[in-house]
Amino acid sequence: MRVLVTGGAGYIGSHTVLLLLEEGHDVVVVDNFSNSSPESLRRVAALCSRAPRLYRVDLLESEKINQIVRDLAPDAVIHFAGLKAVGESVAKPLSYYRNNVTGTLNLLDAMESAGCRNLVFSSSATVYGESTELPLVETTQRSATNPYGRTKLHIEEMLEELAAADERWSIAALRYFNPVGAHESGRIGEDPQGIPNNLMPYVAQVAVGRREQVNVFGGDYPTVDGTGVRDYIHVLDLAAGHLAALDYLTDRTGSFVWNLGTGEGSSVLEVIQAFARAAGKDVPYQIVDRRPGDVAENYADPVKARLELGWKAERGLEQMVQDMWRWQENNPYGFPEEASDSYDNDELNEQLLKAASTVQSSSKPNNEGNQK
Ligand code: NAD
Ligand code: UFG
Repeated sequence: MRVLVTGGAGYIGSHTVLLLLEEGHDVVVVDNFSNSSPESLRRVAALCSRAPRLYRVDLLESEKINQIVRDLAPDAVIHFAGLKAVGESVAKPLSYYRNNVTGTLNLLDAMESAGCRNLVFSSSATVYGESTELPLVETTQRSATNPYGRTKLHIEEMLEELAAADERWSIAALRYFNPVGAHESGRIGEDPQGIPNNLMPYVAQVAVGRREQVNVFGGDYPTVDGTGVRDYIHVLDLAAGHLAALDYLTDRTGSFVWNLGTGEGSSVLEVIQAFARAAGKDVPYQIVDRRPGDVAENYADPVKARLELGWKAERGLEQMVQDMWRWQENNPYGFPEEASDSYDNDELNEQLLKAASTVQSSSKPNNEGNQK
């Protein structure tokens, strides 16, 4: 199958591109590198000895997106591209609506005019707002508490309306819980710019010595140890969920939604302790005030995805922190710095083919052939 992956150079995208290539799919990535670099894809190509085709392009450039989708005629699209920082979305709501909502509209227009109507969309457990009905099931009422969350909510609604209006569309919205971890090679992983907003990358940077201590936001929640509880999910399990959703859409139309979580909650202190064991060192922390907008506890009901997609998360917290630590220890400052416009598209694609062919593996030397 030819799969177009928007935001494929990012954290979840790069892991999913790797699985798609390993499964023999023909992969095309579009990314503007606003929160990533081409290095993630060079490493993906080296890991699996196959290269995706890459376009540096912004989803807001509607003409270019139209042309790419028309020329490449993908069988399906996985849409990761978007901005994702909650705090930043409060400060810059318009750029979130423009990038996430308008970017998605441009993509849908391009797909419609190319006759490609299979879409897997990155939604988020953020659409459950401040719901306290646990576990969170797909039928829980949706709400938003910040502009980022509202972009996900609007897009989910838009997609449902589109599928209701035209029965040729097949659309999956996947609601991720808290993606963490990295590929077991330690070659690709999450590379947050600036101070990490999320717990796990922050803990990893403390463990590697880049930051002094973890600020634990609140120690008086009604939870197992007073700290916030979340459903952490290994990024490779999450990536596998996308392949399962693609498969499901192959012979169905309509719009569908699934939680992608483990169904298990872990507290902030449990995460810190697990990470300290994996890294073999203390991870200093202090309890500080609660972070405004945080809920005490949230975890998925993952049953719908298990029954309908045949998917479930396989990796537990210990493996998540071990893989995260391997990535962080091998790449303490993430991917090497690179000016986002250092190379044009032809050069980028040559680099990917070269990376794919420099590994010892004898199989699949380039991105031709071996397609599903
Ligand atoms: P990421 O920032 O690592 O990846 C997003 C990618 O999209 C980046 O490579 C970025 O350069 C690209 N991008 C952004 N805007 C673009 C645009 N207009 N045109 C082209 N490319 C663009 O983030 P991620 O963690 O991999 O998240 C992927 C998706 O999953 C996002 O939509 C995010 O909202 C959603 N999500 C993430 C989490 C999480 O905690 N990581 C949780 C729930 C949902
Ligand atoms: N936390 C800390 N210290 C930190 C960072 C986080 O104690 O430095 C705590 C939080 O208070 C929370 C837990 O760690 O209890 C997890 O926080 P994250 O920021 O890692 O994740 P959230 O669950 O708050 O948010 C994530 C995504 C959002 C998404 C939300 C919806 O980052 O984009 O899940 O489920 F909207």
